[in-house]
Amino acid sequence: MTPALISRDLFEEQLPAYRRFLPIISSLEGGTTKQNIWDIPFTIGELSYLVHSHYRYYGKFPSVVAGQLLDQFPAPSRDHYVLDNFCGSGTTLVEARLRGVKSFGIDISWLSCLASNVKANPANTKEIKSKLKSISNAHCTHSKSCEPPEDQFVTKWFSEETTRDLQSLREIIRGLPESSEKDFLLVAFIGIIRRVSKAFDAEVRPHINKDKKQRNVLEAFTKKVMDMCADHDDYMSLIDSDIESRCILGSNLKLPEEFDDGKCHLVISHPPYLNSFNYTPVFSLEFYWGEPFEELYTGGVKSLHKEELTAHPASDRVTDSYFSHLEQCYRETYRIQKQGAHLAIVIGDCTRNGELVSVIDRTIEIVTGIGYVPYEYNYRTTHYGLGKYAYRHRADYHGAADKKDGILIFKVSEPRTTVCSAHHFAG
Ligand SMILES: C[S@@+](CC[C@H](N)C(=O)[O-])C[C@H]1O[C@@H](n2cnc3c(N)ncnc32)[C@H](O)[C@@H]1O
Repeated sequence: MTPALISRDLFEEQLPAYRRFLPIISSLEGGTTKQNIWDIPFTIGELSYLVHSHYRYYGKFPSVVAGQLLDQFPAPSRDHYVLDNFCGSGTTLVEARLRGVKSFGIDISWLSCLASNVKANPANTKEIKSKLKSISNAHCTHSKSCEPPEDQFVTKWFSEETTRDLQSLREIIRGLPESSEKDFLLVAFIGIIRRVSKAFDAEVRPHINKDKKQRNVLEAFTKKVMDMCADHDDYMSLIDSDIESRCILGSNLKLPEEFDDGKCHLVISHPPYLNSFNYTPVFSLEFYWGEPFEELYTGGVKSLHKEELTAHPASDRVTDSYFSHLEQCYRETYRIQKQGAHLAIVIGDCTRNGELVSVIDRTIEIVTGIGYVPYEYNYRTTHYGLGKYAYRHRADYHGAADKKDGILIFKVSEPRTTVCSAHHFAG
């Protein structure tokens, strides 16, 4: 090994994890807008540093995509903030917090909001571990007398013993007073559901795995809480506790008034990919066990589900309403952003019945039609095989020159262009 390599390795090891795996960027020739390739040749394990592994969220983007964008567009002041209008599991909020940047998210799903808020904010891990002890003790006596639910759904996906244990744990957590510790423990509980079910762990939509070895619920829960506490302690050693990070339950089709303050310097936006999957059915097992908490975390607002962006199947009707949703939600971000602010959309093309649907071109058309101007188009390379960050369920972007996975960056022009809202897509 050459001396230069030794010093580089040592240097990289000293970097915090969130700076070690940033995309390797190379520029592309041609086009009127600057174009780059973002290569992310790292494993899921490497990219799930700190609190990113708290909650397995199917369809999240690599943490370093948000990290790279936040580095590229720093906040002009401590009052400025990044907004993620498809917040998911809060990847953007965590990366912003690590950089001392104020952040907000918005998501239609209460489970996403809960996970995002727990991940991004400090937690009293000592108190959580003490509550875990009481929960374990209570569970040992409570589980024997517990009446498990007996519906077809639960018997299909969970063994009798697992159902009884989940019911017991859920009742104990439900009985805890409202607190950030309860939120943390609930994320851990929801986080083990897939693992203790009869479904494959890694598949996006739940499917029965006949060969799956059943795991003890209390053991799985205890391990999950302890792992989360250790990761959270590491995370807290790197963050400023005074910075705000908050995910709001709601639809991105109408942004809350609090964002009308002109302080949003960057929007990071990662809509569900067309023709990949809708989120609610993917989390059906988690929503089933989370149902008694829904009232508490939604304030009883149930109708929100109707405003979820539908991405599957890409029939003509779904495709039209998908683009119409994008148009409406980026009109909203354009309304709240000021001159010089940026919008980054992480989005990919898809194939439908073997034919390419150029989601990227259509998105560019929509967003520039609203008034944003193109700033930079980046394309992600995806890697297959073991250990690489794989997108098997999504699409094959490998080698197919026309099918792209993009990080499209736009700017609010100076002077601001106002495009009349008559330019609507069918929906
Ligand atoms: C691709 S995921 C985002 C994942 C995120 N980047 C992460 O790393 O976890 C898209 C998210 O959009 C949310 N969503 C769908 N329709 C929405 C709407 N109308 N308003 C807000 N969020 C919505 C879904 O619930 C889902 O969590």
